[in-house]
Amino acid sequence: MGDSIAVTAPLPGSALERLAARWPVRVREEPGPMGEEEMAAFIGTATAAVTLLSHPVTARVLEACPALRIVANYAVGHDNVDLEAARARGIWVTNTPAVLTEATADLAWALILGVTRRILEGDALVRRGGFHGWEPSLLLGMGLQDRTLGIVGFGRIGQAVARRAPAFGMEVLYASRTERSGAPGRRVELEELLASSHVVSLHCPLTPATHHLLDARRLALMRPGAVLVNTARGPVVDEAALVEALSSGRLGGAGLDVYEREPEVHPGLLGLSRVLLLPHVGSATVETRSAMADLVAANVEAVLEGREPPTPVVRGER
Ligand code: NAP
Ligand code: GLV
Ligand code: GLV
Repeated sequence: MGDSIAVTAPLPGSALERLAARWPVRVREEPGPMGEEEMAAFIGTATAAVTLLSHPVTARVLEACPALRIVANYAVGHDNVDLEAARARGIWVTNTPAVLTEATADLAWALILGVTRRILEGDALVRRGGFHGWEPSLLLGMGLQDRTLGIVGFGRIGQAVARRAPAFGMEVLYASRTERSGAPGRRVELEELLASSHVVSLHCPLTPATHHLLDARRLALMRPGAVLVNTARGPVVDEAALVEALSSGRLGGAGLDVYEREPEVHPGLLGLSRVLLLPHVGSATVETRSAMADLVAANVEAVLEGREPPTPVVRGER
């Protein structure tokens, strides 16, 4: 049988049309997460699968889809893909690095500013008719000038967040397994970063080593009143412990784009006013989502043409 492409959701831009001009393309139109069985049934005999971060590409899925040559994830994070199982089967895995770096860094700053300046509380107050004129003590937040920003995971996005820090007068500390020189910042141990930072922003991938990296013990190391921002992956934070640290008033607030059991949100977060909750929109700009689709298409095209794909995570053999 010839090549065909299974795409687990419609993508913005024109990339899928370009693929469809050359190969049969099936697109799953229903939104929402998919389980293993559904994934396996949908991909079926396709030789290329374009997957979302909310779609599990497990060993069972790969086993059930023996014709697969490439899993092209429409995300830079690939914690939804069992890389070892793909490697064992000689299947290429690709992701979408770099094209979403600036958009995601911007969103991290939107959360930092949104939480520290209490943007949602202000907006809600105006809408309910509660703005009765300028007041010296109305909605006082935390200034950023001369404060410390702690960045956990100093890769592409972490460094892009750091590059914006001098514009806000913030010092940068970072925790990373390797020293990096692409952005302003001083490398420290995670414990020191947590104890010294007024704002902590997470930018590491989700791996076994980063699962619950911020657990109750580490959250307790954070400065009283500090703000936590997570645009990485939900399970990097113990969400129940975060709810506790926020409800007790020890932490000053949180800005979250991702959740431990996405798309479920811990009910304890919903009632907290100093918490800003977004539906995983880090890379959600028109330009970026379209560039991600182009990169996914370039990866699929390359593998189906027998060439090396531009952004491999796992080298395939097919
Ligand atoms: P990246 O360039 O690979 O950067 C990740 C960095 O994390 C690496 O530099 C790595 O450096 C560091 N790291 C890995 N394990 C660590 C650990 N245990 N402790 C501290 N640092 C660790 O990836 P990126 O493009 O910046 O993306 C980062 C993550 O952001 C993605 O994996 C994804 O989950 C998330 N993301 C979310 C959105 C969103 O919509 N919210 C959008 C894009 C990306 P070392 O190996 O040197 O430690
Ligand atoms: C989004 O979360 C991504 O990993 O691209
Ligand atoms: C505030 O609007 C000011 O002018 O200080």
